[in-house]
Amino acid sequence: MHALVVTSHPSAASFTHAVARQVIAGLDAHPGHTSEMADLTAEGFDPRFTATDLALFERRGAADASVLAEQQRIDRADLLVLVYPVYWWSMPGLLKGWIDRVFTQGWAYDEGPDGATVKLLGRLAVQLVGIGGADQGTYARHGYADAMRTQIDHGIFGYCGAPVVGSDFLLHPDAPSRERALRQALDIGAGLAARAPHWHASPAA
Ligand SMILES: Cc1cc2nc3c(=O)[nH]c(=O)nc-3n(C[C@H](O)[C@H](O)[C@H](O)COP(=O)(O)O)c2cc1C
Repeated sequence: MHALVVTSHPSAASFTHAVARQVIAGLDAHPGHTSEMADLTAEGFDPRFTATDLALFERRGAADASVLAEQQRIDRADLLVLVYPVYWWSMPGLLKGWIDRVFTQGWAYDEGPDGATVKLLGRLAVQLVGIGGADQGTYARHGYADAMRTQIDHGIFGYCGAPVVGSDFLLHPDAPSRERALRQALDIGAGLAARAPHWHASPAA
C-alpha cells in the first residue's frame, strides 16, 4: 500500500506539517506500507485554473503537463491523505486549486453515453485531516464539520467515487490540545495502515 500525503500550508514549520509527519509515521510503522509527502507550497504548484484547464473540461484540448504529473503521482498511490488547515470553513485556496485543476473530467469522472456521471476513482481511498483554530463547541454549534464533510467528502470525492475512509478534524486552540492532536494524527496513520485491506468495504462516509 502506498500513501500520498498532500499538505497545503505556507510554512514547513507549521503544526499542519507536524500533523502530516505524524500521520506518515503511523502509516510507515506498518511493514509493507510506504508513503510520500507532497508539499504543494514547497513544490510551487500553481492553483490558478487556466484556459488550458478549461479547454480540457470542455473537451477542446489536452491536459497541461503539470496536471498530468499530479495525476500520475496520485495514480501511483492507493491512499490519498489531505492534511490542511481550515481556512474560512473550507480548505486553503492552494489545495482547492489543486483539486480544481487535477481532478479532471476524463480522469476523475466522466460522462457516460446516457449522460450519467461515471465515477473513475473507486480504487483511491481518501483520508481527510482538517486542522482548525476554533474549538469543538463552535464546530458543533454551527454544524461546520457537517458542512465541510458535505462539501469536501461528498461533493468532491463522492462525485469521483473515491471512498472516504476517514475524515477527521483536529482542533487545537491551546498547547495541550496540540499534543493530543499529534497523538491522534499518529493513530490516524496507524489505523489507516491496519485497516488497509478493508478500506473499500467500509468507507467512513
Ligand atoms: C486565512 C485563515 C482562515 C482561517 N479560517 C478558519 C476557520 O474558518 N475555522 C477555523 O477553525 N480556523 C480557521 N483558521 C485558523 C487555522 O485553521 C489555524 O490557524 C490553523 O489550523 C493552525 O495550524 P498551523 O499552526 O499549521 O497554521 C484560519 C486561519 C487563517 C490564516
